[in-house]
Amino acid sequence: MGKIAIYPGSFDPITYGHIDIIKRATKVFDKVVVAVAHASGKDPLFSVEERKSFIEQVEWDSGTNIEVDDFQGLLVDYVLRKKGNVVVRGLRALSDFEYEFQMALINRKLSEEVETMFLMAGETYSYLSSRTMKEIISLRGSAAAFVPKHVEEALKKKLIK
Ligand code: COA
Repeated sequence: MGKIAIYPGSFDPITYGHIDIIKRATKVFDKVVVAVAHASGKDPLFSVEERKSFIEQVEWDSGTNIEVDDFQGLLVDYVLRKKGNVVVRGLRALSDFEYEFQMALINRKLSEEVETMFLMAGETYSYLSSRTMKEIISLRGSAAAFVPKHVEEALKKKLIK
């Protein structure tokens, strides 16, 4: 059986930064499961179904082996249920490191079987976050360089009255 990576996040919404990490991960693993968290201590703008459908609508290269799924509860339990080998996380800047380091060590304590691997985001995307996309759109700016068209449209619909 091939190596399965789980890429978890809130993806509220997906940006080119996440897409960059997913594309990098698909070059390393046989399959990448993009796992949308129901709750991650945040109050999401989009429902789980909306967030999943934005990921599914991305124009993935043919042959890209991804599955879009959602999870509740502990990440490690989900990874074991999916028979995943590795959790993939993207590192954008040094400031991500402390939080990621803590999360990886907690996950390792919770399950010795789950490894975490970090991929470096492309420098073009290292400053993106979902929160800043919402801010740009609600202030009537263009997010075309940061998110796919369907995501920008959905943000506009939700945020511009
Ligand atoms: N490109 C663009 N943006 C990125 C990015 C990238 N490569 N990587 C992260 N981001 C953004 C995210 O969109 C998010 O933006 P926002 O805060 O504006 O919404 C922000 O950076 C933080 O992202 P991240 O740290 O990845 O958190 P998350 O909310 O996406 O996901 C979970 C966190 C879901 C993975 C984590 O809470 C979890 O595992 N929860 C399950 C419960 C559990 O097991 N807990 C114990 C483990 S500690």
